[in-house]
Amino acid sequence: MAPFRTVEWVGGTDGFLRLLDQTLLPTQVVYRDCRSVDEVCEAIRTLCVRGAPAIGVAAAFGLVLHMQQDDRASTERFFRLGCDQLGRTRPTAVNLRWALERMGRRFASAPANVDSEELRNRLLEEARAIAEEDRQMCAAIGRHGAALIADGQGVLTHCNTGALATAGTGTALAVLAAAAEQGKRLHVYADETRPLLQGARLTAWELRQLGIPVTLICDSMAAQVMQEKRVQLVIVGADRIAANGDTANKIGTYGVALLARAHGIPFYVAAPSSTFDLTLPGGEQIPIEQRDPREVSHGFGRQTAPDGVEVYNPAFDVTPHELIAGIVTEGGVIGPVHAESVRRHFQGRSSHP
Ligand code: MRU
Repeated sequence: MAPFRTVEWVGGTDGFLRLLDQTLLPTQVVYRDCRSVDEVCEAIRTLCVRGAPAIGVAAAFGLVLHMQQDDRASTERFFRLGCDQLGRTRPTAVNLRWALERMGRRFASAPANVDSEELRNRLLEEARAIAEEDRQMCAAIGRHGAALIADGQGVLTHCNTGALATAGTGTALAVLAAAAEQGKRLHVYADETRPLLQGARLTAWELRQLGIPVTLICDSMAAQVMQEKRVQLVIVGADRIAANGDTANKIGTYGVALLARAHGIPFYVAAPSSTFDLTLPGGEQIPIEQRDPREVSHGFGRQTAPDGVEVYNPAFDVTPHELIAGIVTEGGVIGPVHAESVRRHFQGRSSHP
């Protein structure tokens, strides 16, 4: 288990949400306590908590905080307001909507005359179950994915997909951690992940704690690293996977997938079923979050572009399924990746997204 807690509920129904403030890593390990839904929304928007599964878990607990303020005037309407507020924070990671819908089903299953304390109790139970299931999904992803990694391989990853991005050990990083635990020797190349440096600040930090050798590279160095034959496999996470396997992930992922194809290197995605959106036939329908231009022109508070220059700052891109060798989920590996193999993978499963 990680020596830190990314998202943690403290106390009972009158408790609060404790988040590891990821904006301060890697230099400061500071926990931030959220006692209102506004504070949770702000934490999600500012990436204090980030990574698709962790956002979903935080939102579920955020709803419990919201319901602490319920005055019983119109409980259902009040509940929906909280869902809408949380749902608007970040548009791409579908785990957020998935968690809110699940909380909504738990809310709807309560008897009409349920008292507000019992209702909060049920919602807290559901949020805890979402967190616990995420932990289990991470462990299963690690187990299934480790078989893909050979001893002595160099592996490239993009953004952060570890314990900081989930309630458990992560997705792509869980695969690497599981392979390392099996005694396989790995060397990870971590893309720094412009503009917010999740790779440099978070992945390099986590891998060092796990004792897995890591070399940090600028995003623009990936092609050179591949040409030098330093990596034999790429594995990344996902924020939303459409029904045909097209995968939205941190901006820059699509470029890495194209580079991997050009160099004959297999490109894998690791994600729990809560990251699949089977309502979308393909990746072109995935909403892409646009973030503040200042993240590019004034990164970490220092101006690095001329005043007034136009900036484009999409936070995610979509990798077409044809470039993906396999998707590792808690249920196994989907591959080759296309609409039919995704459909078959989820057919008859209780964790159908
Ligand atoms: O903007 P972020 O940091 O929330 O983006 C995170 C990613 O793109 C991750 O790769 C993805 O959420 C998978 S996390 C297990």
